[in-house]
Amino acid sequence: MNNIDTRSWFPLVRSTELPYRHVAHAQLFGYELALWRDDTGAVNVWENRCPHRGLRLTLGTNTGTDLQCRYHGWSFESGDGGCSFVPAHRDDSEPSKACVLTLPVSERNGFVWAAFDPDTTEPQFSASPSKQAIVLRSVAMQGPLERVRAALEHYRYSPKAAETSVPTNSAEVSHLSSYSLRISVLGESGPVDVQFNLLPASAGKTLVHAAVSGDASASEVVRQHHAFLLEDLRRTLAAECSPTVTEQTDQLKPIRFIVPNKQAGSASIICEVLRRWKESDGVMAFELRSISGKLPPMQAGAHINLRTPSGLVRQYSIVNAPTERATLTIGVKLEPDSRGGSASMHASALPGTHLEFVPTRNTFPLLDTPKYPVLIAGGIGITPLVSMAQALHAAGKDFRLHYFVRSDEHVSFASRMAAFQDKLVLHAACTPQETKSILDQVLTQSSQPQIVYACGPGPMLTTIRACTQAAGMPDADVRFEIFRNDKDFGDGKPFTVKLKRNGQTITVPRGETLLAALKRNGIPVEASCEQGICGSCLTRVSSGVPEHRDSYLTPQEKAANTCMMACVSRAISEELELDL
Ligand code: FES
Repeated sequence: MNNIDTRSWFPLVRSTELPYRHVAHAQLFGYELALWRDDTGAVNVWENRCPHRGLRLTLGTNTGTDLQCRYHGWSFESGDGGCSFVPAHRDDSEPSKACVLTLPVSERNGFVWAAFDPDTTEPQFSASPSKQAIVLRSVAMQGPLERVRAALEHYRYSPKAAETSVPTNSAEVSHLSSYSLRISVLGESGPVDVQFNLLPASAGKTLVHAAVSGDASASEVVRQHHAFLLEDLRRTLAAECSPTVTEQTDQLKPIRFIVPNKQAGSASIICEVLRRWKESDGVMAFELRSISGKLPPMQAGAHINLRTPSGLVRQYSIVNAPTERATLTIGVKLEPDSRGGSASMHASALPGTHLEFVPTRNTFPLLDTPKYPVLIAGGIGITPLVSMAQALHAAGKDFRLHYFVRSDEHVSFASRMAAFQDKLVLHAACTPQETKSILDQVLTQSSQPQIVYACGPGPMLTTIRACTQAAGMPDADVRFEIFRNDKDFGDGKPFTVKLKRNGQTITVPRGETLLAALKRNGIPVEASCEQGICGSCLTRVSSGVPEHRDSYLTPQEKAANTCMMACVSRAISEELELDL
C-alpha cells in the first residue's frame, strides 16, 4: 500500500472491543497490530509480530501484565514491550533485549487511537460530534479510503431515526480531516450530526467508525436506523469494488521498516512541571507533563528516577489513577536531612521548570492473585499505595488501605482517597507499640488469605515483617517498596573482580563499593540512586557468588546469582567475574 501516513492518529477499535485479558487484532495501511489492555486498564498497541520468530502475537495470551507469545512462550511487558520472560532462560533477570515495536496510543471518546510514528504529538481529539454521542457499530467497507469517503459524502439519514423514517435529502457535509467527515441533518430540535472516522485498514478495505449526536436514551433505535443504512452502503461498495484491489494478508509486513524501533526502558523523558501544590505538612505534589506529549503507560506501584534541580537523581512513586495518562503526579516530602534532592524540588521545581526522568521497571506491581489486598502506608509511603488503591477501586476489587500518619495535617492525597470510604483506615499519632498491635490485629483478623503491600519508614517495615512472620504469611505475600537502603555498602571483606571483556582485574577494598572501584579504574557503569533501588547499575555476573545488598532484584534473581547491583552489592566468593 502506497502513501503510508505515519504522522496521523487513527481510531483502531472501540474501547468496548478491548475487555480485560483479551487480545484484539487491527490493521492499519496493511500492517497488522495486536491490541490488549493490561489489568490496570492501560491499552497497548503493538506490531502483531513476536520479535523472536515473527509469529502473530494476537494468538498469544494476555496475562494482565504481559502478552505471551503462544509459540515459544516469550513474554513482553505492558508499556514498553520489553521482553520479560524467556522459558529457556527462566532464571535470567534480563532474559533478552528483544522488544516488541510499540505504537503511541490514546483512549478517547470511546475509541482506542494510535499512530505509527513515536514522535507524533497527540492531537486534540474530536472523535465524537458532541458529548452526547451514540457510538455505532464499526463497519468494514470494501474499497480504498478515497472511494469510501466519497460514498459517505452522500450518506443520508432521518434525524428522527424511527423505524419507518425516510432519510432526508438535504444535509451539510464537513470534511474535518483526510480521515474524518461529518454529515449534519436538521431535525425538529436542532441539527443531528453523524461523524465518520475512517481507518485505512489496507489498500482494499476501510474501516468506518461512526458516532451520532443525540439522546442516549434513544440509542437502540438510532443504532438500528444507521446499521440498516450502513449495511446498505457496505453492500453497494462490495458490489462495485474490483476484487483485484483486495490484499493478501497472510504475510506479516514488519512495521519497523516504516518507523524505527527502540530498546525497552532506555529512553529518558524531558518533562515540565505543570503545577505544584502543598499536599500536607512537608509534602509537595508535582504534576509533570512530557514535553514531547508522550508518556509511557505506567502501572500502579511504579516509580520514576527523576533528576532533581540539584542534579541528584531521586526515586518517586507515581500516584496516578489508571485512567490518568496525560500527566504524572508525584509527592515529594522535604527530608530534614536532604542532601539536595527533595530540598531542590521544594525550592526550585516551579511551574515551567524542565526536569528529566527515566521510567523504570515496576518492582512493586499489584499481583494478579485472589488473595485479599491489604495496603499499609506510613507517611510519604502513601504515594505508591494510593495509586494501587485507585487501581483496585477502579477494577471494583475490595481491599483495605491502612494509612499511618503523625497527625491529620500529615494526610496526603486525601482527595484521591475520598471515594474509598470504609476501605481507608486512618491511624493517627500511634506509638510504635500501638502500631504493632494494630498491625498484629490487621494481619491475623482475616480468615481469608491476604497479600500485603507496604511502604513507609524503615522501623515500620521491620514491624510489618515481624507481624507477617508471626502470622505465618509466606514472604512472597508480603511486598515492600523501599526508597532508602540503610545498609553500609562499603562494609565487608575485600574481593577481586575480573572483567571478562575488558581483561582487567580489580581489587575492591573494604570501605569502597564495587561501583566506586570500577569508576576509579575507568570502567563506565551507569548508576543513579547508588542505594540498590533503581536498577540502573545492574551488572551481569559470569562466575562467583555475589553478596546481594539491594532492594531491586527479586529473591529468585538473587538466588540465581547471574547479576548484581554494583552500587551496593559485594562478593561472598573471593573473586567475581563480571560481563564487562
Ligand atoms: S544505582 Fe540504583 S541500583 Fe545501583
